[in-house]
Amino acid sequence: MRNPLTRERREEEEQEKAKGLGVPGPRSQEVLRRKAQVVAPAVTSLAPFVIAESRGAVVRDLDGNEYLDFTGGWGCLVVGHTHPKVVHAIQTQAERFVHTDCSVIFYEPYVALAEKLVQYAPGERPKRVAFFNSGAEAVENAVKIARYHTRRRAVVVFEGAFHGRTLLTMTMTHKAQPYKAHFGPFAPDVYRLPFPNPYRNPMRFADWERRFKTLLDPEEVAAVVVEPVQGEGGFVVPTEEFLPELREFCSRHGIVLVADEVQTGVGRTGTFFAVEQFGVEPDLICVGKSLASGLPLSGVVGVADVIDSVPDSAIGGTYVGNPVACAAGLAVIDVLEEQGLLERARQLGERLEARFLELKRRYALVGDVRGLGAMRAIELVRDRETKDPAPEETAQIIKGALARGVILAKAGLHGNVIRMLIPLVIADEELERGLDALEAALAEVARG
Ligand SMILES: Cc1ncc(COP(=O)(O)O)c(C=O)c1O
Repeated sequence: MRNPLTRERREEEEQEKAKGLGVPGPRSQEVLRRKAQVVAPAVTSLAPFVIAESRGAVVRDLDGNEYLDFTGGWGCLVVGHTHPKVVHAIQTQAERFVHTDCSVIFYEPYVALAEKLVQYAPGERPKRVAFFNSGAEAVENAVKIARYHTRRRAVVVFEGAFHGRTLLTMTMTHKAQPYKAHFGPFAPDVYRLPFPNPYRNPMRFADWERRFKTLLDPEEVAAVVVEPVQGEGGFVVPTEEFLPELREFCSRHGIVLVADEVQTGVGRTGTFFAVEQFGVEPDLICVGKSLASGLPLSGVVGVADVIDSVPDSAIGGTYVGNPVACAAGLAVIDVLEEQGLLERARQLGERLEARFLELKRRYALVGDVRGLGAMRAIELVRDRETKDPAPEETAQIIKGALARGVILAKAGLHGNVIRMLIPLVIADEELERGLDALEAALAEVARG
């Protein structure tokens, strides 16, 4: 990372650090003190410091401390923090025009990015795209489109699912704490079924289908919404045949199959969309997060047949498909292509898998190692037989890694999964350094 700070400032900071001021340092502390006065306490952060700048996989706090960011802003940074091409695209577009509201005046970057997504979407059926702002909005709109198209109401989601925090997507999300408790009443016509989890519940499709049919008449179902690899749910990769069988089941009953690729999409798993690896063509795909490298942009990519059903102005919003965000999205895809980041995601996945299997061999605390491409995780358990989750140990490991300069994120219904959302542009040396820190923290907790 380039360092724009003056030498004097750096020296001053070095002296402060040398005085053992720790983290958060005084500058971060000052901002956090102001934050506590005026910012809603529900707005909490994983990192105990305040950022000054970032580049690639590295962030620097206001006090000059550097960290490796293995959360990538919750998976928004496949091309890394502050990629120069993305920054340039944002600046260039901002100088031309920042906002029109696409329902007032249309612009080319929207079309160009839609063309790219259509090109990447799997399957032969013609596709269309509509852009929104957040992942939750993309999921909400996918459900609206599916309902309009089918004229049915019911929506089926999964145990362990995370789809967002709006009323409908919060309802679709599984976990009560912290997402749902005391926020009811929830949206009607949302039904939850198990997710075939090879580690905890390797359900056969026939059993899943039976469960489905005891709960609902498939002819009343508008959409099944599935994360091809569960994100917040703990990086759970379904059993191999599940998604192809689900595709077939949905087609048989006229149900719109929605793949929520907000976390898995844009190359994270080694293909642009994770569903490609299961040989499945969903009717609608939701995309967000890394699409515009952290600028608010999400989208629904889907078969024309389904999306074309929805009439003029029935979906949209003031900011949707913002031109600056679309320009950033085009730059993200350029970088992905130029730097061969899909291949890089596969390589990172192999490296992570090898290191994690080694951790599993050495530490009984590691119950499972799993993932797809660079979307990898370890699940921590107190006992490998009972698979009793180890959330406290997980939290301690994350804390220990942070003390060693690596920001890690947890996941899972029981908060006992450590997930990797590493920028794909990370250097090998940074990757190994980060994994060493994770291992040191894990070893410390395992020793008790
Ligand atoms: C799979 C999935 N869907 C939807 C969302 C919601 O996205 P947003 O927070 O942008 O609304 C997320 C966010 O983590 C997600 O992982």
